[in-house]
Amino acid sequence: MDNRETDTRRRKFLTAATTGVGGVGLVAASIPFVQSMSPSEAAKAAGAPVEVDLGRVKPGTLLTVEWCGKPVWIVHRTDRMPDLLGRHGNQLVDPQSKEAQQPEYAKNATRSIRSPYLVVIGICTHLGCIPIYRPEMAPADLGPDWPGGFYCPCHGSKFDLAGRVFKNVPAPRNLEVPPYTYVSDTRLLIGKDDKTV
Ligand code: FES
Repeated sequence: MDNRETDTRRRKFLTAATTGVGGVGLVAASIPFVQSMSPSEAAKAAGAPVEVDLGRVKPGTLLTVEWCGKPVWIVHRTDRMPDLLGRHGNQLVDPQSKEAQQPEYAKNATRSIRSPYLVVIGICTHLGCIPIYRPEMAPADLGPDWPGGFYCPCHGSKFDLAGRVFKNVPAPRNLEVPPYTYVSDTRLLIGKDDKTV
């Protein structure tokens, strides 16, 4: 990827992060990186692991943090959301997560270490736009079969609440799961796991 593409992607990321909260009431984006960067923030942008307090992510909401210059989403799925994931497997490109789009510990039905919390990189696998969090079921614009997930308005790609891509959209792969680990019951470390050297 050349610098110009990286800059374009980052501009889209910042624009989406600063404008994405208003559209859906359940979204709680965190955008500290729009302010001038402190040395620690600059280190995060360069790839240092990012620690997240899960208390900031209420059930049903999404929190965005920056890691490696990319938006990483932490979604606190409600109790019923993981149950919904098993109902539309035949509509997905890679329902079993066979492609290498996640660490081994996220190669499961919920694509996560603990089913309430989804951690994915919020970049569409088509051309790199930032999808929109659409957790509501069957909204008028996405149709009666929409189970909740992420919608990319650039070219219409759709992903479920595990970041798995639906068939018949331009995005070819599931959203990528970054390396992460739990440092306690209430804190995540994104960008590092026991396999990261
Ligand atoms: S970039 Fe998301 S659908 Fe094209």
